[in-house]
Amino acid sequence: MPVTRTPAAATDVLRRQDPELAGVLLGETARQSTTLQLIAAENFTSPAVLAALGSPLANKYAEGYPGARHHGGCEIVDVAERIARDRATALFGAAHANVQPHSGSSAVLAAYAALLRPGDTVLALGLPHGGHLTHGSPANFSGRWFDFVGYRVHPDTGLIDHEQLRALARAHRPKAIVCGSIAYPRHIDYALFRDVADEVGAYLIADAAHPMGLIAGGAAPSPVPYADIVCATTHKVLRGPRGGMILCGEDLAERVDRAVFPFTQGGAQMHTIAAKAVAFGEAATPAFAGYAHQVVANARVLAAGLGQEGLVVTTGGTDTHLITADPAPLGVGGREARAVLAAAGIVLDSCPLPRADERGLRLGTAAVTTQGMREREMAGVAALVAGVLRGRVEARRARAEVRELVTAFPPYPG
Ligand SMILES: Cc1ncc(COP(=O)(O)O)c(C=O)c1O
Repeated sequence: MPVTRTPAAATDVLRRQDPELAGVLLGETARQSTTLQLIAAENFTSPAVLAALGSPLANKYAEGYPGARHHGGCEIVDVAERIARDRATALFGAAHANVQPHSGSSAVLAAYAALLRPGDTVLALGLPHGGHLTHGSPANFSGRWFDFVGYRVHPDTGLIDHEQLRALARAHRPKAIVCGSIAYPRHIDYALFRDVADEVGAYLIADAAHPMGLIAGGAAPSPVPYADIVCATTHKVLRGPRGGMILCGEDLAERVDRAVFPFTQGGAQMHTIAAKAVAFGEAATPAFAGYAHQVVANARVLAAGLGQEGLVVTTGGTDTHLITADPAPLGVGGREARAVLAAAGIVLDSCPLPRADERGLRLGTAAVTTQGMREREMAGVAALVAGVLRGRVEARRARAEVRELVTAFPPYPG
């Protein structure tokens, strides 16, 4: 389901006025459309989303919320934020949406600010097991301001160790439990997390940054009925602008809103909020539901292909857009594999793996599915990845194959 047409007019203006910067834009556009984008957190937004991002709404200051702004002249942008909120609540079946977080990390920060005090104990997936930086990294505010305890994925199965989770919850009595990951390829059992949280009197925060687009398209279960607060990014599979959002019930709406503004953020970015509204509108269509299911179908074929080629696929497969795999049996570690594949025009991440000392690879199918690729292309991609890693396909030939593939499936036709 390729999107149509890049907003070339905007690039033309820049080309005339600032060729140096225009060169960067054109260079990046060329990079994105001549290499294979398998970064699990990325996607290609539609021209309509790009148009909202590059609109004069970027000029407007709008501290506060619709109808209650600290700046004058907000009556038009208020409409955009109301549309974004209404579309988000309708799309995800939530009572309340805050669409102002500047990023996924800002959304998580605001969720903690709404529910926690510094020093509180929080249970989250440990960082080596797929937790995000905001889930207690010492390099992040979360690790400095809260007392994080990490649960794990089971070293043998790669699945969240529910028994350990419950035991840790009983032992530490956390104020909040966080479910969500940067690298978990399977559905999360939100009902089980709710049960554990209820048993120990904890809040449940779902950080659904990765699966939010699958949830919108009905291709993954929703945390909304179970979590006190759901945080997400609006990019990734959801295919909106870079940004964050928070969903919650009416009971926490005021606390969440005050935690975003004025506690952790200043003026809302109205161009981004308008772009989020556009993306929520797109995500509510049957075409997007078809896209979300195709993303998963593609990921399953890619995971199976990598497994057949000898990589060790974590959990043996995927339920989502995301795959993690250990390339060690092919004689190469994750870091080196990422570099070798980059030289071949295949762009992906390395990531920690539950059992291995070396990093593994993390791949996703959101972007290639937006380009219109399907199962057949995914089987070819798995073979190409393995061929490059085994040294059977040299970089130059691989780059040519990649270019042929992405030329047949351009992200922005025309
Ligand atoms: C689970 C999770 N939480 C939070 C974030 C942070 O999002 P951002 O990079 O927009 O701050 C990410 C980003 O990848 C994520 O995967």
